[in-house]
Amino acid sequence: MNATTRAKRNYTSYMTPLQFLGNFTEALNGPNIYMKRDDLSGLTAGGNKTRKLEYIMADAIEQGADTIITCGATQSNHCRLALAAAVKEGLKCSLVLEEVISNSYHPEANGNILLYHLLGADITVVPKGTNMQEEMEKAAEKVRTQGGRPYVIPLGGSNVLGGLGYVKCAHEIIQQTEEMGVNLDAIVVASGSGATHAGLLAGLVQSRRPIPVIGISVSRNSEDAEGIVRGLAEGILEELVVPKSLSDRSVQCLDDYVGDGYAIPTSSALECIRLLAKTEGILLDPVYTGKVMAGLVGLIKEKVFNKGDNILFIHTGGLPSVFGSASILIGSGKSDGRDSK
Ligand SMILES: Cc1ncc(COP(=O)(O)O)c(C=O)c1O
Repeated sequence: MNATTRAKRNYTSYMTPLQFLGNFTEALNGPNIYMKRDDLSGLTAGGNKTRKLEYIMADAIEQGADTIITCGATQSNHCRLALAAAVKEGLKCSLVLEEVISNSYHPEANGNILLYHLLGADITVVPKGTNMQEEMEKAAEKVRTQGGRPYVIPLGGSNVLGGLGYVKCAHEIIQQTEEMGVNLDAIVVASGSGATHAGLLAGLVQSRRPIPVIGISVSRNSEDAEGIVRGLAEGILEELVVPKSLSDRSVQCLDDYVGDGYAIPTSSALECIRLLAKTEGILLDPVYTGKVMAGLVGLIKEKVFNKGDNILFIHTGGLPSVFGSASILIGSGKSDGRDSK
């Protein structure tokens, strides 16, 4: 099934695997845990932004852009993948990085920062609280005055076009679980800038599969996060020409696992990172997927699911930021410039 008639680039030439996590399920003694391995998608080191960028970059190319401009925190998975897509398409890329944690940008740092340098981006670092939209506009103006054609991608690639990538992911999930003979009882996903969560919801509505989607917020409170996801999901449904049919309860973002704030690690996330690594050899990161897994484990402990339920965790990637977080994962707890969007 085609998600939409919109132009699309193809950065992952396969469906990402959907796997049963037998050892992890046994360790938790809870419902059956499945994982959608979007960490194994295409472009440099994969992750959820690859799907969003397939539609966004097609639009940039249609508009004749020669320079991609986007923004994020210093260890930004989105910036790394937007840069990778620009490299693949032969475009230039300019990144505006916010030091969400002070002094978190070090040109010689590991993780995503290392990859910005290897892939070759023009980098501007700004302090916490800077108006990122304005900064990107300034960067775009600079490109224009030099005769170039900029294309600005919003924070996290979260707009309607980006969300279409997760409509396609919902279609894959439906096909793969049907082939496996698995009926899903819930999907658990990260909710940050929101289009991953919103696209999944829209794809399920479009396919008339009312599987509950539980968003785990990594930054905002529930009300704000749900407002953003709802707005994006309605925009995506409009784009798909599907009559709006999001019930009040279908947009759910839990804010119990954010901890002290975006990119500040929690002990429950670190525990989950270690448990999944030791049982399945699969890596999560402390900023996104670790907190989301802490959410899933928290819900299991609260007995929200029954023992035989089938729960799908969306692995949204973030691998390079693991390498920018050595000290917190190994134990000293010091920041390694670990904020990422
Ligand atoms: C690894 C990872 N997971 C999840 C998210 C959140 O996705 P979204 O911004 O679409 O809510 C991000 C956002 O940057 C991310 O990098």
